[in-house]
Amino acid sequence: MQQLLLGQTLAFAADPFATPPEGAAIHDSRGGVLVENGRIAAFGHGPDLRRAHPRAAVTDHGEALILPGFVDAHMHYPQTGIVASWGKRLIDWLETYTFPEEARLADPAVARQTAALTLDLALDHGTTTLLSFCTIHEGSADAWFEAAEARGMRVAGGRTCMDRNAPASLRDTPQSAHDESARLIARWHGRGRATYAITPRFTPTSSPAQLEALGALWAAHPTCLMQTHLSEQTDEVEWVRRLHPEARDYLETYDRWGLVGPGAVFGHAIHLTPRERARLREAGAALAHCPTSNAFIGSGLMDLAGLRASGIPVGLATDTGGGSSFSMLRTMAAAYEIAQLGGHALHPAQLLWLATEGSAAALRLSGVVGRLAPGAEADLVVLDLASTPAIAQRAARAGTLWEAVFPTIMMGDDRAVRAVYVGGRRVRPA
Ligand code: GUN
Ligand code: ZN
Repeated sequence: MQQLLLGQTLAFAADPFATPPEGAAIHDSRGGVLVENGRIAAFGHGPDLRRAHPRAAVTDHGEALILPGFVDAHMHYPQTGIVASWGKRLIDWLETYTFPEEARLADPAVARQTAALTLDLALDHGTTTLLSFCTIHEGSADAWFEAAEARGMRVAGGRTCMDRNAPASLRDTPQSAHDESARLIARWHGRGRATYAITPRFTPTSSPAQLEALGALWAAHPTCLMQTHLSEQTDEVEWVRRLHPEARDYLETYDRWGLVGPGAVFGHAIHLTPRERARLREAGAALAHCPTSNAFIGSGLMDLAGLRASGIPVGLATDTGGGSSFSMLRTMAAAYEIAQLGGHALHPAQLLWLATEGSAAALRLSGVVGRLAPGAEADLVVLDLASTPAIAQRAARAGTLWEAVFPTIMMGDDRAVRAVYVGGRRVRPA
């Protein structure tokens, strides 16, 4: 059966960081998305599509804006229960809140419940694809992929590996990290819509032997992603320097073991040296910008504009529970605020691109999700651009699409999410 969704549409013909942002976007105030067999079969002007496909079932979203579902390029589903925990910076925050919470996921029932809750919250907020850390427990990755499969969602994720500087109950070994990750790859990578991500938590909690084992695993399974953290807080960078005086910088502690290359997604990347930036660009590795987290944990201001100008792929991410919101709208707002503090005003086209195409590219899913184009999977969010009185009164004065959409980016939340489609199936309202 064919479905035709009508509404305002916004698609990107080019990267709005590489060309003038307004020219990169194609807006149609009467656009249409034709969906068939879970994919976008055609995309164009609504009335034209209607004439060409008279038998399609029509859903008219009116003035609402149809976009690709949001793609969250870095988050931690096990931390949903401790989101917005008060008063700590990164290392204290990990020890006080995160590790005790992650220990709870030793119980597969807790893992299943947390994964289900997190994916339901994501859909409520219009997020249809996520790359998540799991915990050290093999069952936490099974729970993540099972919950996504039950919802038909395209997700990526992996069992988090830690063999030092963590509580004993959350430590593995190089061998067990390798073997359990390998089993999970065999079970999940490429099954349905699942992508496995090899997941050393970060250098402070993975010994060189563990990073070496995971580098070898990635070399054996190069279509997997590799996710970790990089240069989030200055105390952390200093800790890595003390642990690895032999390394020129933080990135090199991963690079030595083959963990820097296409398909690597480094969270945060705030306190980078010029050499690290050059090496990231040369290697084709991607970054995940986590602006609510960076403000909430007090990490610092990522140089998004500079990194993108140098051609480094960057996606946008909530980093929950270090991040303080499940909303990619709120996350775009935080990216805007952080860029302003660095002297750049990000254009709404750039913000929307980061949350869709940019994150999809970081996950090596360009053209698969994050894009309104024929052949892409029909994961879609429909945004009400007048979802609260405050937003509505501002949008009513808008002269352009950008003026109409920016108040929703800055002030919107799950109330702006009018509908969500996963694989062409409407899942919100539930
Ligand atoms: N660095 C290492 N682990 C984590 C984590 O769970 N959250 C954040 N924000 N940074 C980290
Ligand atoms: Zn993180």
